[in-house]
Amino acid sequence: MRYITGGVPWSDERVQEFVSKQITRHADEGYCRWRLAEKATGATVGFCGGGRMHGLAEEEVEVGWWLARSHWGRGLATEAARAAIHDLFTRVGLSRVVSMAARENAASLRIMAKLGYTFVREQPYREFIVHIHELTPAGFRVS
Ligand SMILES: CC(C)(COP(=O)(O)OP(=O)(O)OC[C@H]1O[C@@H](n2cnc3c(N)ncnc32)[C@H](O)[C@@H]1OP(=O)(O)O)[C@@H](O)C(=O)NCCC(=O)NCCS
Repeated sequence: MRYITGGVPWSDERVQEFVSKQITRHADEGYCRWRLAEKATGATVGFCGGGRMHGLAEEEVEVGWWLARSHWGRGLATEAARAAIHDLFTRVGLSRVVSMAARENAASLRIMAKLGYTFVREQPYREFIVHIHELTPAGFRVS
């Protein structure tokens, strides 16, 4: 949570609110931050998918990724983002997505580079300066 809340974990209520919001967004708009389940066990290990963020334009769908620390460093966030973005471009029919990360969040920015994102702008977000990157189907590195 270092680059999201400044290091404060979400309460159970906040987690429940997040999940409820995803269920509503999926019903209303056809996409959401998906639950990531480990294939072998089915255990929840994170979230990845499209959402809306304060500070972005109304039409900007933001793809985000969060993994349990025990699952970092295996390429899972990149794999999940690739699947979520493919779904947003094909089934949902978006022609552009964006992602946002604190400029110090090197792992997150590296994921954007691996997927073919390009830098758009820098802006304040809560206590951070964030970088906004965009991706279109033409730039999407599918492997
Ligand atoms: C960001 C996060 C999702 C990455 O998950 P992951 O599954 O480890 O990511 P991947 O393995 O798919 O890719 C990460 C890339 O960043 C690189 N990386 C990781 N830490 C890095 C660092 N400190 N500096 C530079 N590069 C780094 C990795 O080497 C990898 O690149 P590579 O494939 O070229 O080697 C995970 O660290 C996380 O959940 N962090 C906390 C939540 C968060 O910050 N989410 C993003 C909010 S914008």
